[in-house]
Amino acid sequence: MLTDLYFNTLRDLIYENTGIVFDDRKRYFVENRVREHMEELGISSLKEYIYRLKRDKNVLKDFISKITVNETYFYREYYHLKALAYLVQTESFGFPVRVLSLPCSTGEEPYSIAIVLMEVLENPVKFEITGVDIDRNALRKAKEGVYSRRSVSKLPGRYLEKYFDRIGEEMWRIKDSVKRRVRFYEGNILDRLFMKGLGRFHYVFCKNLLIYFDDRARVQAVNNLYDVMVDGGYLFLGHAESISRTSSLFEPVKVEGTIVYRKVREEEEDEW
Ligand SMILES: C[S@@+](CC[C@H](N)C(=O)[O-])C[C@H]1O[C@@H](n2cnc3c(N)ncnc32)[C@H](O)[C@@H]1O
Repeated sequence: MLTDLYFNTLRDLIYENTGIVFDDRKRYFVENRVREHMEELGISSLKEYIYRLKRDKNVLKDFISKITVNETYFYREYYHLKALAYLVQTESFGFPVRVLSLPCSTGEEPYSIAIVLMEVLENPVKFEITGVDIDRNALRKAKEGVYSRRSVSKLPGRYLEKYFDRIGEEMWRIKDSVKRRVRFYEGNILDRLFMKGLGRFHYVFCKNLLIYFDDRARVQAVNNLYDVMVDGGYLFLGHAESISRTSSLFEPVKVEGTIVYRKVREEEEDEW
């Protein structure tokens, strides 16, 4: 159904608005999502559909929501949470500790961070967590805070009992005490101005996003992350992601057996 011309137009539109690269192998995936979306909108011509995507921000946002991969769960890559717990107890950045989870998808990552910090910091008033994602539908779920067995299956049982209310056979709602710790915003990691508006963070989790980008978008994203971090702040990337080759802005350090990236001080960076 998608001719080369239409596929390329859609691919460019996705890239310009998200940084995500779709190559030919993903044509079938894009085609399915487009068909589904056109049906929902009651549009039968691709030409009209693309016109709507370009003209109507809401239509574009729903399309982006359809093509993003929101896969996530509580306590994913636990070793990073362990490293964070260690760092917040040993580093002296001062308080409140500020953590950014970008992309946060449906909320499991920032809420996992909140649980860890509530466990290790004596006074839970001392931290703030910001969750950001480009997908407004994922954010809606994050704010709702209702999760299935699949999402919580890696979470230790004692935390499930302590921080969730069971609301059905296979459904749990995160307690308000955790929910209150996280603020969610819709935004694009490649939007420099939006990123600057978030303020500065001591710890940034940017996991399982850069894998979808090409080098150009990856460099832009890493530069924007650098700008929202304090000197010496720590960046956590997904296990398949590494920035050592693309960036001199961060140095890899081993913390509790895992690699995290420490922001090189801004003056030192100027000397490069
Ligand atoms: C696989 S999830 C990762 C969630 C979580 N960090 C984890 O590792 O479990 C990827 C998320 O990136 C979001 N995303 C894609 N492009 C983005 C962009 N340019 N800016 C912000 N978020 C983006 C998607 O909407 C999706 O929710």
